[in-house]
Amino acid sequence: MVLNPSSFWTQANALFRKSLTFQKRNVKTNVRLILFPLILCVLLALLQHFIDTQLNTPDFKCGCVCPNQRETCDDSEKLCGIQYSDETQATFCKIPNPPEWPPLLQLQYVYCKENQSCPFNMLFTAENRSFAQIVSDNMFPSALTVNSSDIMASLASNVLGSESSAGTDSFLDSGFTSALPVYYLQTQCPQNNSGFSFPYQIEGINFEQDIRCGQGINFWRNSSDDINNELYQIYERNNSEGRINEIFSAVDFLNSNDDVFDVTVWYMPTSIWAENKLSRVPRSVNLISNAYLQFLHGPGTKMLFEFVKEMPKSETAYRLEIASLLGGLFFTWVILQLFPVVLTSLVYEKQHKLRIMMKMHGLGDGPYWMITYGYFLVLSVIYMLCFVIFGSVLGLKFFTMNDYRIQFVFYFIYINLQISLAFMLSSVFSNVKTATVSAYIGVFGTGLLGGFLFDYFLQDSSFPRKWIICMELYPGFALYRGLWEFAQSAITGNDSGTDGMRWPDLSDSTNGMKEVLIIMFVEWTVFLFVAYYIDQVLTTGSGKSPLFFLKRFQKKHLSSFKKLSIQRQGSKVLAHTGKPDVIQEREKVEQLLLEPTINHAIVCDDLKKFYPGRDGNPGKFAVKELFLAVPRGECFGMLGPNGAGKTSFISMMIGLTKPTSGAAYVQGLDIRSHMDAIYTSMGVCPQHDLLWESLTGREHLLFYGRLKNLKGSALTQAVEESLKNLNLFHGGVADKKAGKYSGGMKRRLSVAISLIGDPKVVYMDEPSTGLDPASRKCLWNVIRLAKRDRAIILTTHSMEEAEALCDRLGIFVDGSLQCIGNPKELKGRYGGTYVFTMTTSSDHEKDVENMVRQLTPNVNKIYHLSGTQKFELPKEDVKIANVFQAVEVAKRNFTVFAWGLADTTLEDVFIKVARHAQAFETLS
Ligand SMILES: *[C@@H]1O[C@H](CO)[C@@H](O)[C@H](O)[C@H]1NC(C)=O
Ligand SMILES: *[C@@H]1O[C@H](CO)[C@@H](O)[C@H](O)[C@H]1NC(C)=O
Ligand SMILES: *[C@@H]1O[C@H](CO)[C@@H](O)[C@H](O)[C@H]1NC(C)=O
Repeated sequence: MVLNPSSFWTQANALFRKSLTFQKRNVKTNVRLILFPLILCVLLALLQHFIDTQLNTPDFKCGCVCPNQRETCDDSEKLCGIQYSDETQATFCKIPNPPEWPPLLQLQYVYCKENQSCPFNMLFTAENRSFAQIVSDNMFPSALTVNSSDIMASLASNVLGSESSAGTDSFLDSGFTSALPVYYLQTQCPQNNSGFSFPYQIEGINFEQDIRCGQGINFWRNSSDDINNELYQIYERNNSEGRINEIFSAVDFLNSNDDVFDVTVWYMPTSIWAENKLSRVPRSVNLISNAYLQFLHGPGTKMLFEFVKEMPKSETAYRLEIASLLGGLFFTWVILQLFPVVLTSLVYEKQHKLRIMMKMHGLGDGPYWMITYGYFLVLSVIYMLCFVIFGSVLGLKFFTMNDYRIQFVFYFIYINLQISLAFMLSSVFSNVKTATVSAYIGVFGTGLLGGFLFDYFLQDSSFPRKWIICMELYPGFALYRGLWEFAQSAITGNDSGTDGMRWPDLSDSTNGMKEVLIIMFVEWTVFLFVAYYIDQVLTTGSGKSPLFFLKRFQKKHLSSFKKLSIQRQGSKVLAHTGKPDVIQEREKVEQLLLEPTINHAIVCDDLKKFYPGRDGNPGKFAVKELFLAVPRGECFGMLGPNGAGKTSFISMMIGLTKPTSGAAYVQGLDIRSHMDAIYTSMGVCPQHDLLWESLTGREHLLFYGRLKNLKGSALTQAVEESLKNLNLFHGGVADKKAGKYSGGMKRRLSVAISLIGDPKVVYMDEPSTGLDPASRKCLWNVIRLAKRDRAIILTTHSMEEAEALCDRLGIFVDGSLQCIGNPKELKGRYGGTYVFTMTTSSDHEKDVENMVRQLTPNVNKIYHLSGTQKFELPKEDVKIANVFQAVEVAKRNFTVFAWGLADTTLEDVFIKVARHAQAFETLS
């Protein structure tokens, strides 16, 4: 069965189905993902309901009464209107015909005994004191002038004031509707100042208001500064008592005279915190202007300021839109929730080297990016859809008021930005836990900073716009701003009964949505590019140069066998190190390079890997001068002590690192330039199992099988077979999550993965570590079967395994091959001895040695301890029959406790070669 390399779409399909399964398995994450926005929306809806009930009280509605002074009545019978309302209620009424009020001065509260006159003080200054004095004397009349048939209308020629602070509007002036009296200011008040009350009407209903005299006094001050200081001191003194000022107003006439009228007025706000602080300023300006007019034209002249009245208005309702009010903070959290999900998923594959594993089994960068990105995008879109739908169904104005198309564009761009950001940041983290913790800190921190800091800047219209835009470069704040704009539109739309945000609103200069969309879109593309760049340069291990994208402008590499070997001709210098088998292999490689045949799946040509020195240590060749040709159908075993360079060699072959020099060809393709093509026909069983903990064994095999272009029944068959072969089929092991596997099971699964899809070249790095003998046997059978039409390179520390599986062996010490050949040859070449062991009492040690020396003089004693001795006997010198005879003779002469004769094992060869090479190394 020959498989073509899988196409882009096959790979994409494989990865997509794997991701789906993976997501399906992460039940906790999924449930949390869906529940979080749901719970939050429900919570907000409940809160909204609660607030609506609270607001559904008479305090937050236009005032109403039952007709004919009944206690209770139906809502429909009730008479409502401003005339039945108090000051707060009036705000909600429909007022087509607002009542008019005499304008009042704001007076400070003065402790004023019953029936006594209460002084209200005013300060003045000017350049010309005599002028100012005359004008000031005109301010307060000496007597009250009213027409008793219509007191309200005739009050304008008097100076009225009130201590009550003005409300939010002037539909019902608090001066007339509160219990405090209205004062008319005069130069002198009568001794018995009990005042009186006068009636007035609003919409046909009668009301009454107390009015009494207050003494208005003007005091001269030398300068404007004096006035200012005095006001400030009084303010400081009274602040603690909650009073604003004993002086209710002050005026500086500046350079005014007969021709010029120029004044500065200090006014008292109606209350420090009131919204319409200035509502009682007009009367004080009129007071001064009127006094000046009388100075010019005599006391008969009057400039009357008779009434103030607010504009008519329609009925309004007070609604607190909780989702819009809290939306900025809560919805930021909801949307940011996705970020840790994407990030941890990416970091998980990085931490467990699964990305590289997938790449080594043929997953190209294109499908990887498309599917991984697309997958998270789909996930995010579904999440956002749920969120918006939940919110809309629950009737949150935040969603229903604003144009859904704007919301879609905004959320869509943002989730793309968020995914790109996660891709970019995933290169920073190497551990899932760190990534998760950091991401959640980021999520909550961003929400809080947005809600309590950034929000503050947004509301402060004097805060420079450019700084806001700078802050919006941080994606979390851009998101916050967008949500904030939605909330503002929903609130204003709700209050004024108009629409929320619509497309034309985006061109409004106060609407920040347009700049947010632009910022996010630009960042999305930039982040995506940076993420791809980092991925290419750093993460995949393919070791692309930071300027890889310039490559297409360089000359194309000519990587064919011939060209290279032609260059090499003539420079055929052999370093004779006295290892004929290694030299022979080298010659074979050179021959192969001249006449390439497809039979040799792996050809290594003078492969070198040099690690430069660090921290003062000298640099080291991990692999040097490696020549190796592995034909198809061969299992080549690499033996070698730890640190000999086996793993460095495999890393180069599977594309994790680049060779320092030299080349290797897999199926005729150069590993330096065609790694991507090589991956499609390669299988790797890495030293450490690279598996998804939440996927089952079967799912792993299905995924890698699909990557290798297996389809339909061929795929199922291959998977079943491979599960059966590796003893993963019984007891439902195949459908258990790999995270629950024992070490041995994981190992077997890794081997199965490396073999699925008929790869032409397979690397197995210590495949049988941690396996019980039974599993190992079955693993061996699989490898024996598998090597028939492919080349396998296997590293192992088990000599038994090497002997059982490998057609040829190479012993690797200090970065180079010390010997190469099939196990028998090696044993013959390096062994060539029998090991003779005999145990006697210590008295007869000498006899034993003599006996052995009689067999052959070329004997070598290798071990000796209290009666037990071991000798090496050259094979060519001794016959086994002779040995038996000699032992029989010896037994008659003295007591032999035990004896034995053994052929050399591979282990002896290994130890010998390794020791020899290391000794050679230290010598040179
Ligand atoms: C000050 O004002 C009075 C009254 O208007 C005027 O008679 C007098 O000439 C003014 N004095 C100066 C120095 O302008
Ligand atoms: C008082 O007001 C009534 C009604 O507006 C008017 O007829 C009458 O002339 C007024 N009296 C004075 C003294 O102005
Ligand atoms: C104001 O000026 C007058 C005369 O120039 C002086 O006698 C008086 O002390 C001054 N008052 C203050 C408070 O400076």
